[in-house]
Amino acid sequence: MTTEPMAVYEPSSDTHTPKGTRHSEAARDHLWMHFTRHSVFEQGDDGGRGHSVPIIVRGEGHKVYDDRGNEYIDGLAGLFTNQVGHGRTEIAEAMAHQAGTLGFFPLWSYAHPPAIELAERLADIAPGELNRVFFTTGGGEAVETAWKLAKQYFKLTGKPGKHKVISRSVAYHGTPQGALSITGIPAAKEMFEPLVPGAFKVPNTNLYRAPERFRDDEKAFGEWAADRIGEAIEFEGPDTVAAVFLEPVQNSGGCFPPPPGYFERVRKICDDYDVLLVSDETICAFGRIGSMFACEDFGYEPDIITTAKGITSGYAPLGLMIASERLFEPFRQGMNYFPHGYTWGGHPVSCAAAMANLDIFEREGLTDHVKANAGAFRATLERLLDLPIVGDVRGAGYFYGIELVKDKETRETFNDEECERLLRGYLSKALFDAGIYCRADDRGDPVIQLAPALTIGQAEFDDIESRLRSVLTEAEQHL
Ligand SMILES: Cc1ncc(COP(=O)(O)O)c(C=O)c1O
Repeated sequence: MTTEPMAVYEPSSDTHTPKGTRHSEAARDHLWMHFTRHSVFEQGDDGGRGHSVPIIVRGEGHKVYDDRGNEYIDGLAGLFTNQVGHGRTEIAEAMAHQAGTLGFFPLWSYAHPPAIELAERLADIAPGELNRVFFTTGGGEAVETAWKLAKQYFKLTGKPGKHKVISRSVAYHGTPQGALSITGIPAAKEMFEPLVPGAFKVPNTNLYRAPERFRDDEKAFGEWAADRIGEAIEFEGPDTVAAVFLEPVQNSGGCFPPPPGYFERVRKICDDYDVLLVSDETICAFGRIGSMFACEDFGYEPDIITTAKGITSGYAPLGLMIASERLFEPFRQGMNYFPHGYTWGGHPVSCAAAMANLDIFEREGLTDHVKANAGAFRATLERLLDLPIVGDVRGAGYFYGIELVKDKETRETFNDEECERLLRGYLSKALFDAGIYCRADDRGDPVIQLAPALTIGQAEFDDIESRLRSVLTEAEQHL
């Protein structure tokens, strides 16, 4: 497992580009890219100029274009963000109009119409009691906010010892130090230890890697996995545990959907121990799984939803926490308030982008489109199971992981050196060269991840499958 979870494109040494464009050289010299191994862009031992930074200059629908005019399927919707597709001028126009009307004002004791109207709209579409919207600028801040709220809520309601959180192995919840504590990827955390204390991990719902006795009984596996949460609460002491953070479909590790009955049981465990259930839908909300909020796809009502990304389809940064009315109740009283906030949280231009984005969802029936086509997308990707290197295809909605294995019979995975050779030495670049931007990731076992725009249909599914097929067929030679 590596510490470079986000490095989507890393050219191998045999594809040396002697000189990049002006932009790629300036990027190499001045831009600090996120989760990126910069050494690949530096001068090589042979006196060459290293590899050029890929520069994406334009997007149109489900495609993006680089500075050399090459076209790519945006198989990851940017970074799980671009639900409605690129180049939507009506979102740009809504943002321009808002910037011209009120470019910025904070939500610190004041409010502005875009944040108010968006909060009202979100409360309207969120399930049940989820009614109170707190804006951030991204998903990690939303997770951070939810943990702080959970702690303060219990302090205000006579249970001051409840402060710990439980989350799942290999899950990613963001980079602020609290959210990173909740994250279950040791390699992503080790450079920043000691992190915020009080975060404990339980098994995730990776059925493909489940204990052998559960592999043919998904429901029993789900019950077992849910019970690990109850057990962790008991081990830590129910009076000390504030919240459980779970994604509806866990992204990191390669798309683990919940087994049937899993969330029903988790909800009951949380209720029994008075522990808050936080649904981290940073990726899964806004149609990625099908519904506007993915907890609805799996039939549970959390106490808090955290989300970001698809709310604006990536046209502007915005994250948020939606809390149930019950959690807001103590903050109606006297001098109580939540001493927490961000200058840019609920930025008016971002809220205007979100409103225009949600208008497109409604007008084009995007959630229904995903629900109607998700089965076809899965079936198309499952055709790849005939390749010896493809062990599993899993996910839901427009969100899939394809796990690569060394031996399909035994499910043996690749060691670190083989992963390095396969993912960074070959796959990342080969996929990009084949005209598909997606993620080859080994935060858990090696997977290829897909999360395209929610607008696409069978023709694009076929196109994605055939590009993946040609790259994965050749991958055999690079093992
Ligand atoms: C489930 C989950 N939570 C939190 C985050 C962090 O979001 P951000 O990068 O917007 O801080 C991510 C990012 O991918 C995520 O997938």
